[in-house]
Amino acid sequence: MHRIVCLPGDGIGPEVIDQMKRVVAALGVTVEWIDMPAGESAVATHGRPLPQETLDAIREYKVAIKGPTTTPGGGGFKSVNVTLRQALDLYCGFRPVRSLPIPGTTQGVDLVIFRQNTEGLYLCEETISGEIGSRKVVLTAHFSEEAMLQLAGRAFRFANATGRNHVTVVNKENIHKLWGKMYHDAFNAIAADYPGILADHMLGDAMGMRLVMTPSSYQVMAIENMFGDFMSDVCAGLIGGLGVAAGANYGDHFALFEAVHGSAPDIAGKGIANPTAILLSSALMLEHIGKNAEAKRLRDAIDAIYSKGEFITGDLARRYPGITPVGTEAFTDALIREIHFAS
Ligand code: NAI
Ligand code: MG
Repeated sequence: MHRIVCLPGDGIGPEVIDQMKRVVAALGVTVEWIDMPAGESAVATHGRPLPQETLDAIREYKVAIKGPTTTPGGGGFKSVNVTLRQALDLYCGFRPVRSLPIPGTTQGVDLVIFRQNTEGLYLCEETISGEIGSRKVVLTAHFSEEAMLQLAGRAFRFANATGRNHVTVVNKENIHKLWGKMYHDAFNAIAADYPGILADHMLGDAMGMRLVMTPSSYQVMAIENMFGDFMSDVCAGLIGGLGVAAGANYGDHFALFEAVHGSAPDIAGKGIANPTAILLSSALMLEHIGKNAEAKRLRDAIDAIYSKGEFITGDLARRYPGITPVGTEAFTDALIREIHFAS
């Protein structure tokens, strides 16, 4: 019996999380889900977006999975994701990008973005001054050598353990001469321990273009927080969009699994969200708790669903001309049949 903390979150979060629980059960993994509040929904019930008891539960059980949480734009409370990543020191954003057999998407992509999760441009402090019409904003961002040493350490260990031989650090050292070089030096210091792995470097703008044109030439990337945020959505676009992009956040003590997508207010409550992204994130969670065979069965079943192309949600329906899209639950029903059929 595994105990895993579950944050259903906002918008489509609870809809896709419910289906994820069904699929984990169908794989024969018995989990006691410790459901905890987070996000806009928690403000309504607990007066704050990240109640202390939610953080305490993750600290106690060490493994968590979350649905997306809504962050108000241009004011309001601080992002729950940013707070969680900082409070639990989840310094490594792990975002695998693997092609699925979806018509019209880029095939042959199998890369992992290691995104620095706890410092940098994403976490900068902003101050504003002046009168409307002549206002100025100052950003203060922090970058540390330690953060890149930790991130590159994870990236190279992962590459080594999974038979990958190419790791790329992405920065903008022609512009950010101090920060860029410090990250690059830290990356090289880790790379020195892995002579069999090519330690590569790309500037962020060129990387963006390469990811669109020749994504299969890349295997593992170590990237700053905000750059990593952008690059992972670019990569999601290559393989079919946010409905299929999975992620995890790792630190030295805790792991938090979540899809790349947000709470999708435009489709929330309609029962049409694609649960694939959270399901692929749950495959990472299953591996984390030692259920490698179950994770593989899940990925194989997802591949089968997309290659058969009979049960497809609305976000991907245009890739399958002539089909009638199915909702979140019917997609999951088909996936569970596929899991049982294969076993
Ligand atoms: P979003 O990812 O929620 O939606 C972008 C577009 O993709 C929408 O058209 C949406 O319908 C579609 N989409 C996303 N996931 C889908 C799925 N599983 N199936 C089908 N279509 C899907 O991004 P947006 O609109 O920028 O953000 C909405 C809210 O989510 C904001 O409050 C934002 O701060 C929050 N957010 C939370 C994240 C998290 O908790 N990890 C990550 C990204 C955004
Ligand atoms: Mg993002």
